[in-house]
Amino acid sequence: MLMMLAKFSLFLLFFVAVSALQDNRPNLRVMTFDTYNTGIHFDQGLYKIVKHILSVDADLIAIQRGAMDQILPLLGSRYQGYAVDPTDMDVGIITKHEIDLSTLVHTPASVGFKINLLNSKSVYFHSLHLDPENYGPYNTTTKSGLDQREEKRVSQIQTLINSPDFQIHVQFAASGGIPLIVAGNFESPSHLDWIARTKRLHGDCVYEWPASKLLSDNASLSDSFRVVNPDPLYVVGNTWSTCYETVYDRIDFILYNSPKLIPVDSFVYSGCLPLKMSPNHKFNDFPSNHYAVVTDFLYA
Ligand SMILES: *[C@@H]1O[C@H](CO)[C@@H](O)[C@H](O)[C@H]1NC(C)=O
Ligand SMILES: *[C@@H]1O[C@H](CO)[C@@H](O)[C@H](O)[C@H]1NC(C)=O
Repeated sequence: MLMMLAKFSLFLLFFVAVSALQDNRPNLRVMTFDTYNTGIHFDQGLYKIVKHILSVDADLIAIQRGAMDQILPLLGSRYQGYAVDPTDMDVGIITKHEIDLSTLVHTPASVGFKINLLNSKSVYFHSLHLDPENYGPYNTTTKSGLDQREEKRVSQIQTLINSPDFQIHVQFAASGGIPLIVAGNFESPSHLDWIARTKRLHGDCVYEWPASKLLSDNASLSDSFRVVNPDPLYVVGNTWSTCYETVYDRIDFILYNSPKLIPVDSFVYSGCLPLKMSPNHKFNDFPSNHYAVVTDFLYA
């Protein structure tokens, strides 16, 4: 009898633990994925992109350098998507949820709108790809030189910040309304990473990268990866590059503004098979030269 009771309480404990886990499970998964020209540089690249999107199973996916008219049809009817020009290898958004295009905000470097989740919650979601020219970390000789190299990216961020419709999204989110998420390839590192403590990782250079800083200051956006992994020395999180010998850095971000969103996990993603470096990268299972980033949020 005692034995049975013990077994029963063990079962009860297990049941309680499992339901607690279920109650606390992350309920909003976000992915940012630069598909490097829709995977053309890899064998079966397009099919690999689709496979990775399906296996990550995110609610919201920010695409950069991907042609929506190629990716979407292969994802099946559970997925919706939008790009201003679906044939262009540019920014786009893919989701399993309902797109509200009446809220569209489009700038030369971004696209975003409201997405209605199944549980009657919504998110303003923006996909961003900044200008890749004059990549900063390739020449960090002087601060003024760096400032100059960042000018185009800064002006693209300013265009987004100054867009009245984007400002509405920011104000709404900050006041506890619909959360705002901005995700993408910034083609530049984070002001959170190039600090004094990490300067040996960056050619002894400390620099406040302006694109990420502006979004932090003027749209109150927090970097989900750095909230979950606050130490840039301990968890570097490089997203550039999966297949080139280069100056490695973390340049793809999932940023959010909302008291209702709590990031509980955030990681770089390249599937689980080994990555071969260029020129032997063509048969890599992960068909991009950037890692993707995935963040799991609790949406309170
Ligand atoms: C690096 O930047 C500095 C300052 O802007 C410039 O003088 C120098 O020519 C650049 N070096 C290279 C290799 O581009
Ligand atoms: C960002 O905020 C600062 C301080 O509030 C302000 O001086 C600056 O003009 C803002 N920049 C943009 C692009 O909105």
